[in-house]
Amino acid sequence: MALDSYEFMLRMTQRINFTDEDKTALKTNAEWGLAIAPAMADAFYAYLGNDEEMSAILNESEGRIHRLRETFVAWFHEMFTGMDDWGKDYAERRWRIGLIHVRIGIGPQHVVPAMATVVNEVGDRLRAEGKSDELRAALSRICMVDLAFIEQAYLEVSTAAVLKETGWTEKLFRRMVVTGAAAVV
Ligand code: HEM
Repeated sequence: MALDSYEFMLRMTQRINFTDEDKTALKTNAEWGLAIAPAMADAFYAYLGNDEEMSAILNESEGRIHRLRETFVAWFHEMFTGMDDWGKDYAERRWRIGLIHVRIGIGPQHVVPAMATVVNEVGDRLRAEGKSDELRAALSRICMVDLAFIEQAYLEVSTAAVLKETGWTEKLFRRMVVTGAAAVV
């Protein structure tokens, strides 16, 4: 895939104003993040499980839910540690998570409300435990960066697939998308 995950990460963190102060707030609370991660995973999979379509995906293969709980806990904790200070490893990991969701057939309509659930749940927890507004803002920002990765993966993979199948140039494809949109609005 053509996307440079680290370059994308830098662009998103700048766009959303994810600052060094945000990083410090997250790192300082990394242990707390790990401690609440299992409860966040419970809430997250309860939410997905309540939706018929997503529940079917979750229960498609044996052990999937169990695996997912573990990967969710690791994912949640990584938002606090930043892995390599939100560097290349972090970006590559987020890109891979995006690609895995595309492969399973999970699109923006599933992912956006799912991330909203995470932001809401963690917001409730922050309030209940008297955590700072700075931490809440930092978490919301990094959740949006992670969300952008999953969304972008969907777009990159589908665009690449169309270009490969048709032999069109990217420029032509984009023009057709714009023309197509103009025709329906
Ligand atoms: C906030 C949005 C989401 C986050 C942060 C998230 C996180 C993750 C992570 C970290 C993985 C593991 C990737 C790996 O193996 O490297 C994963 C895989 C997966 N996710 Fe998500 N996910 C999200 C949304 C969803 C939604 C909406 C569904 C819908 C059912 C879903 C279903 C799955 C499935 C089926 C797998 C593959 C499990 C397997 O068989 O190994 N995820 N997700």
